[in-house]
Amino acid sequence: MSKDRGRDRDRDGGDIYDPAFVAGLFDRCSSNYRRWSAVSSFGFVWLWRKQCVGLLPVENHQGAVVVDLMAGTGEVWPHLLKRLPKLGTITALDISHRMHTEAVERLHGAYAEKITHIEADALQTDLPQNHADLVVSTFGLKTFNAEQQTVLAKQIARILKPGGRFALIEASDPKGWVLRPFYRLYLDRLLPKIESLFLKGANDFSMIGTYTRNYSNSSYMADVLRTAGLGVVCKKHFFGCATSVAGHKPHPHQSQP
Ligand SMILES: C[S@@+](CC[C@H](N)C(=O)[O-])C[C@H]1O[C@@H](n2cnc3c(N)ncnc32)[C@H](O)[C@@H]1O
Repeated sequence: MSKDRGRDRDRDGGDIYDPAFVAGLFDRCSSNYRRWSAVSSFGFVWLWRKQCVGLLPVENHQGAVVVDLMAGTGEVWPHLLKRLPKLGTITALDISHRMHTEAVERLHGAYAEKITHIEADALQTDLPQNHADLVVSTFGLKTFNAEQQTVLAKQIARILKPGGRFALIEASDPKGWVLRPFYRLYLDRLLPKIESLFLKGANDFSMIGTYTRNYSNSSYMADVLRTAGLGVVCKKHFFGCATSVAGHKPHPHQSQP
């Protein structure tokens, strides 16, 4: 997490890491989420989801049980099904009721029967231990503070089967990149104005600026995943504008890399 922690209150004083706050935020964003995230990121979110799924192995994926944490409207499923066409099921877990509704409404025809929806807090999910062959999460980490990331890492370690693999990606703050001032200007100043103009005064999507500044990058998440017993590899995407963590749960007799 960033050492120069930003604020953790929104403009009305709400705790931006309270799961109820986050659920409300995404409920409000849900109807515009797909288009807004694609357009405001200039298509990068599409590429980063693809790159995240590319970190999962294709070998032996027949019948694989996949858990998509913070699944939202299911934007990662087309990538998953393209890379892993013989996967068994996708469990889509998300705390926002409306994000699930949006996902169901435009469900993904031929593969709808492969998807199970769970409306729950990922920090408290009672998905069974050693349940998943693969865990994926795209852009679902930044709304967790350090303490919550520690809990999430333990959940991922618990849910994964021994030998299971995971890949997570999140928008990040590209510290040290020469163009970072422009990136920050865009996130912190321009996006809020554009959103307010086009979405009638709303400032929900603009919270991404605060969340990414606080999140910084995925290195803290990587640390807590390691502490939870997983093998972890970190990667920067496009000069650190996104960062991923991928890896595996060792078999009990294996030592960690
Ligand atoms: C930025 S969206 C990402 C959605 C999707 N994975 C994608 O690639 O577009 C973040 C999602 O995380 C969900 N979320 C945030 N906190 C959560 C929690 N504690 N438990 C489950 N879902 C959560 C939100 O409801 C939202 O749908």
